Amino acid sequence: MELDVIYNASSEDMGRIPDSSVDLVVTSPPYNIDVQYGNKTANGRILESKGVKYDDKMDESVYRKMLETVFSECKRVLKPNGSAWINIKNRCADGVILPPFWIQDFFSDMYLKNLIIWNFDWGGSTNRRFAPRYEFVFWFVKDKDKYTFNLDDVKIPALNYRPDRYRTQMKNPTDVWRISMVSGNFEERTSHPAQYPEELVERIVLAGSNKGDVILDPFMGSGTSAAVAKKLGRHYIGFETVPEYCAIANRRLAKIKETSDV
Ligand SMILES: C[S@@+](CC[C@H](N)C(=O)[O-])C[C@H]1O[C@@H](n2cnc3c(N)ncnc32)[C@H](O)[C@@H]1O
Repeated sequence: MELDVIYNASSEDMGRIPDSSVDLVVTSPPYNIDVQYGNKTANGRILESKGVKYDDKMDESVYRKMLETVFSECKRVLKPNGSAWINIKNRCADGVILPPFWIQDFFSDMYLKNLIIWNFDWGGSTNRRFAPRYEFVFWFVKDKDKYTFNLDDVKIPALNYRPDRYRTQMKNPTDVWRISMVSGNFEERTSHPAQYPEELVERIVLAGSNKGDVILDPFMGSGTSAAVAKKLGRHYIGFETVPEYCAIANRRLAKIKETSDV
C-alpha cells in the first residue's frame, strides 16, 4: 500500500487500501448544511467569495448513503485495535437545533469511548438563543478493551500547577477541549472554507496512535490531518475530491520536514 499520499478521488472507494491496515481514522466529514463557506452574505446574497467552495448541499438521503459507504470502508481498513474520531456539529434549520447523534448508526458495530465537546471562542452570532460555541468529536473503537490511548502524551498542567509542591502536576484533559478555531492570522490557515485546527487533531493523533502508525482521513480538505501526522512521525493516507484542495494540502505538506525516526 502506498503511504503518505492524498488521492484526488472519492473515499467511497478505498479499494486500494488493504483490510485491517490503518491504525486511526480522523476526519471531519462534509456537514451538508448548505452554508456558503467562505462567502460573506447579506440577505441571502453572496457579497464576497474567498477560496474554492465544495458542494455541501446534497439530497439528505444521498448524503447519508455516501457517509455510510465511506464509514463502512473506514471500518474495513481499520485494524482490530483501531479507532475512528469523527468531528461533526449540530445543524440549525429554521431556528431549530438538530444534533448529529445519527452518526452513531454508522458505527453501531464499534464502541463509543468518548463524546468530546470541542469548545471555542467565536462563531455565528444570534440574539434569539445562546450563540453556538462547540462541535463534537465522536471517538469510536473497534475493540472496547484493546485500543491505543496514550494519556500521558496529552496530559495538561493542573490548575494548581506547582511542581515544587505536588507530585501530580499534569492531568487528564477531560472530554471538554477548549481549542481555538483556525482564525485568519494562524500560520496554518489556508483558503479551505472549513479547516479544523491542527491542535485538535494533534491531541487525537498523540492519544490514539503511535509513531509509525497509519492515519487515514477520508475527507482530507486542506490536509490538516496529514500535516499533523507528518509532524508527529505518523504515516497518512487521504482522499479529497476537489483538486484545488489536494494542491493546497500538498503545498502545505511540502513545507513540513520529514521526521527522521519514522
Ligand atoms: C469539512 S471538509 C474537511 C476539512 C479538513 N478537515 C481540513 O482541515 O481542511 C470536508 C471535505 O470533504 C471533501 N469531500 C466531500 N465528499 C468527499 C468524498 N466522497 N471523498 C473525498 N472527499 C470528499 C470536501 O471537498 C471537503 O474538502
